[in-house]
Amino acid sequence: MTSVIKMRMAERAAQLSRQLNYPKGLLHNQVAIITGSGQGIGAECARLFANEGAKVVVSDIDGAKAEEVASKIRSGGGQAIAVAGDLLKDEYIKQLVAKAAEFGGGKIHIIVNNAGFTWDAVLHKMTDKQWDTIVALHGTVPFKIIREAAPYFRVKDGEPRNIINISSTSGVHGNAGQINYALAKAGVIGMTKTIAKEWGPAFGVRANTIAFGHIETRLTANKEAGAFVEVDGQKVALGIPEKQKQAPPGIVPYQDIPLRRPGTATEAASAVLAIASPLSSYISGQTISVTGGRNM
Ligand SMILES: NC(=O)c1ccc[n+]([C@@H]2O[C@H](COP(=O)([O-])OP(=O)(O)OC[C@H]3O[C@@H](n4cnc5c(N)ncnc54)[C@H](O)[C@@H]3O)[C@@H](O)[C@H]2O)c1
Repeated sequence: MTSVIKMRMAERAAQLSRQLNYPKGLLHNQVAIITGSGQGIGAECARLFANEGAKVVVSDIDGAKAEEVASKIRSGGGQAIAVAGDLLKDEYIKQLVAKAAEFGGGKIHIIVNNAGFTWDAVLHKMTDKQWDTIVALHGTVPFKIIREAAPYFRVKDGEPRNIINISSTSGVHGNAGQINYALAKAGVIGMTKTIAKEWGPAFGVRANTIAFGHIETRLTANKEAGAFVEVDGQKVALGIPEKQKQAPPGIVPYQDIPLRRPGTATEAASAVLAIASPLSSYISGQTISVTGGRNM
């Protein structure tokens, strides 16, 4: 082993022993951008990260929800700001990164690329609009955020840097009716590994993908609840039809999930926190499935 590598390992061990002594939280003073954190998994990430001492930037297209998440964190003694906007607009991405850096005193340590929704159709009926929107939101947007934040990640200040891209079993295994989403969610896996290889060696940046299975949020709620998003004035219904979610007669509910239930947003967010934390300091370039054991 060369002396340079020995020195690097010794430095890392010293940093870790400082970090692993975490009376102020696992993410003390780390600045984290969490997209889509106005509700669902992202909002739980925001809450859990703030509990661990992070300064959280709550990013969402829904300004009221983003502000509610941030102000709840602040009233509980944590640190958070809301920066609302549409990630499909390049201007907002620039603003988001600039405001995060300002909030963080010139530093950003963590990005969780989580925002998104689904706009399903079988392959032969999928429109260009559906394809372009979902590929942009789940694939191109994470890339643009990371590229914009590059100056805050390509640094050597001895502090940890982490990128977590949220994927799905649809990206890892494919899913009928989700060709657009499957492409984008598979794409972030390759993107994540590329970041780990480009920014790991010189800057120690860790990059990991977390692929969720069935997590109970607005995205998987009953479609009959009527939730929707608007894309250029077009309403896109969210959720899964109740009938589709029910097990057929004689079949155990959630038979394909060894834990026999969906996960909660808190369980999903806990996995994100685990990967962002110093307890995962030697995990990089991985795709971690959080599925209750589905698709083993
Ligand atoms: N819920 C699941 O079962 C499941 C499974 C696999 C992967 N995922 C992924 O997890 C992530 C979070 O999903 P969730 O289940 O918490 O959904 P959610 O609908 O509860 O939350 C998603 C958030 O993203 C925001 N968002 C959507 N489009 C945006 C845009 N253009 N700009 C800014 N914000 C935008 C929404 O406003 C919303 O607050 C998504 O990437 C989703 O694809 C979820």
